[in-house]
Amino acid sequence: MAKEPVRVLVTGAAGQIGYALVPMIARGVMLGTDQPVILHMLDIPPAAEALNGVKMELVDAAFPLLKGVVATTDAVEACTGVNIAVMVGGFPRKEGMERKDVMSKNVAIYKSQASALEKHAAANCKVLVVANPANTNALILKEFAPSIPEKNITCLTRLDHNRALGQVSERLNVPVSNVKNVIIWGNHSSTQYPDVNHATLTTSAGEKPVRQIVADDEWLHGEFITTVQQRGAAIIKARKLSSALSAASSACDHIRDWVLGTPEGTWVSMGVYSDGSYNVPAGLIYSFPVTCCNGDWTIVQGLPIDDLSRKKLDLTAEELTEEKALAYSCLT
Ligand code: NAD
Ligand code: LMR
Repeated sequence: MAKEPVRVLVTGAAGQIGYALVPMIARGVMLGTDQPVILHMLDIPPAAEALNGVKMELVDAAFPLLKGVVATTDAVEACTGVNIAVMVGGFPRKEGMERKDVMSKNVAIYKSQASALEKHAAANCKVLVVANPANTNALILKEFAPSIPEKNITCLTRLDHNRALGQVSERLNVPVSNVKNVIIWGNHSSTQYPDVNHATLTTSAGEKPVRQIVADDEWLHGEFITTVQQRGAAIIKARKLSSALSAASSACDHIRDWVLGTPEGTWVSMGVYSDGSYNVPAGLIYSFPVTCCNGDWTIVQGLPIDDLSRKKLDLTAEELTEEKALAYSCLT
């Protein structure tokens, strides 16, 4: 029997990530090729015409799984009945703006969209925040949608995770699918800690530690980490636009693994509400290694953390604590 359609909200859908993401969702990349979807697309009034153009293209592409499209500038209409919400819309930093100015714009957006989701989304709606500052936007959304379970509110660090896999694969000249269990700890920012201490490579002789195969601590402690931390900036420099296809693809990976589960023996990185695991302060949205099963994520416990890693976990937590304080100061 055909499955009931799942309603997926994409905010900022007229933007460049939105343009890459909605066809992926309509093709089944996010929820599976047997899962019909109804797309809800939200943008702001100045982008209404462009949003309508995206809707026309979705109709023209005749995606068999796409059972309906809602394209609107009304947050209530956009949020009504959605099972999954991918929050890509936000206010970008413009020339001359201070960090606090950008934060205050985004805090206002995420506060009001939290209320719309809380009142109108389906029960148990899963939320993924992509728009920057992703971790802190997700935290504000959580604060202002208290009836949405905190486990349902996450942010995207899967792009950073995938970037780390990509760097190891290029370095070793091996298929990226043979590398697994890297970790992104912390913030989706340049303080994030891309960690390969527990990563493995599938070889003809079984699973081997990436650290042992790379056998170059200088690269692992230096260029590898900075390349992943700075990759977003490198893409902006090259494209004069921020990453879009990789962000959209990683957003699909995040939701797919969350809903359908991670493969046995594999973890992924997700920005989730900290419960104090690994002595990360509780009450931050922080990226951890997680496994997913039955639509639920669980932080991987018990990984040994060496002194160097400890410092890096704490540094990115400090930045998130500061961002949280800044965000709260914008609320008053
Ligand atoms: P973009 O400027 O092309 O698109 C953003 C869209 O959001 C625009 O269409 C804009 O009109 C819309 N928007 C603005 N305010 C809105 C609101 N209140 N409600 C709904 N829509 C609104 O930007 P983009 O390249 O698509 O990037 C989107 C965001 O994702 C940015 O914040 C970017 O920094 C972030 N990003 C995050 C990651 C990640 O890994 N977490 C990766 C890449 C980009
Ligand atoms: C990315 O990681 O590609 C983006 O978050 C960069 C940005 O600032 O939009």
